[in-house]
Amino acid sequence: MKPFSIASDIHWVGALHPDLRIFDIIMKTKNGSTYNSYLLNADKTLLIDTVKSKFTDLFLQNISQLMDLEKLDYIVVQHTEPDHSGSLIALLDKAPDAEILCSKSAVKFVKNTINRDAKITPVGDGSTIDLGGKTLEFLQTPFLHWPDTMMTYCHEDRLLFPCDVFANHFCDSRMFDDAITRDFAPDFELYFNIIFRPFKKNVQNALAKLGNFDVQMIAPSHGPIIRSSVHEVMTRYDQWSRPVPENSTPRCLVYYVSAHGNTEIMAKIITEALKQDNMDVELYDLTQISIDEQLDNIEACDAILVGSPTINNDAVKPVWELLTSLTTLNLKGKLAASFGSIGWSGESVKFIDERLKALKFKVPFEGVTCKLVPDEEELQSCRQLAHKVAETIKA
Ligand code: FEO
Repeated sequence: MKPFSIASDIHWVGALHPDLRIFDIIMKTKNGSTYNSYLLNADKTLLIDTVKSKFTDLFLQNISQLMDLEKLDYIVVQHTEPDHSGSLIALLDKAPDAEILCSKSAVKFVKNTINRDAKITPVGDGSTIDLGGKTLEFLQTPFLHWPDTMMTYCHEDRLLFPCDVFANHFCDSRMFDDAITRDFAPDFELYFNIIFRPFKKNVQNALAKLGNFDVQMIAPSHGPIIRSSVHEVMTRYDQWSRPVPENSTPRCLVYYVSAHGNTEIMAKIITEALKQDNMDVELYDLTQISIDEQLDNIEACDAILVGSPTINNDAVKPVWELLTSLTTLNLKGKLAASFGSIGWSGESVKFIDERLKALKFKVPFEGVTCKLVPDEEELQSCRQLAHKVAETIKA
């Protein structure tokens, strides 16, 4: 798509990627995406971010329609992930004298990306640059989405360039939120949950900084430019990134898979014992639920207990799907334990415990196993595990 104006002397010069169906390996993008780059053409010229390398030629053509590339003064690298830095080398080929402005922590990433000499200047939080009629202020906003991320605010236009923040994956050539007839709330929420959920505190820090600015338009790095719903989008980010409130009654979640009903017996005994210890308990058969729909629940719980039989010397696949779906959650310090019915080898509880520890759960108790059908002594071990979990939470 050709460049278009978003404010006086500011143009979008990015690329549309309508057939993108998966982003960053993990995120489904059924509506494609865009890589947004912005050219500020004042007395001095400055480009904010580049695009994915696949679109380099189109991107350079877009800029060339508006200026002589050799005369580009500055390139702002807000974030070095390749969807925004992928055309940087080709751009420097055309504009070798352009000065790269980036966060201090981005300097090494830029060097590792371009692998050549270039003029690279770190800019501090609150530092400004005057292009002649355009005053840009840089805001350090680390871990949104990488440690290098920063935002740029244009004072004259009250226009925020927040990089990945307030972005979503939606491709439409109309490019402004109020030109596209759509409620973007689900797109924003999906994007937030996959990209920013692990960085809620950083989101809150950034929102506190942005409270000092009268933002009237948001030009993110993906998806539509926001000019009709600035306040709503910021409010949503505030809501999604607030800390999870403490439970008035401790909440325990028991997840299990059972091949022949034996691990299920253990799960039910553990659930009953937790209830007797005045825990608020929910029991789930992992083969019957959507893990994605459990993420809020897990983030809000005090303890999680995971049960799996051992089959072929391993925990079973639905359990691994649970345990590999939790990386975006803040789980540090939550309590966890494992259990399962075994035949002859019994590796499942060991593997589950190792994974739970890697996710930063506290796993103070050895996993409980029973040999095939649990006998009374083994059921008592299940009750004792539940009791120890409850007592630890209460303590
Ligand atoms: Fe759009 Fe973190 O890159």
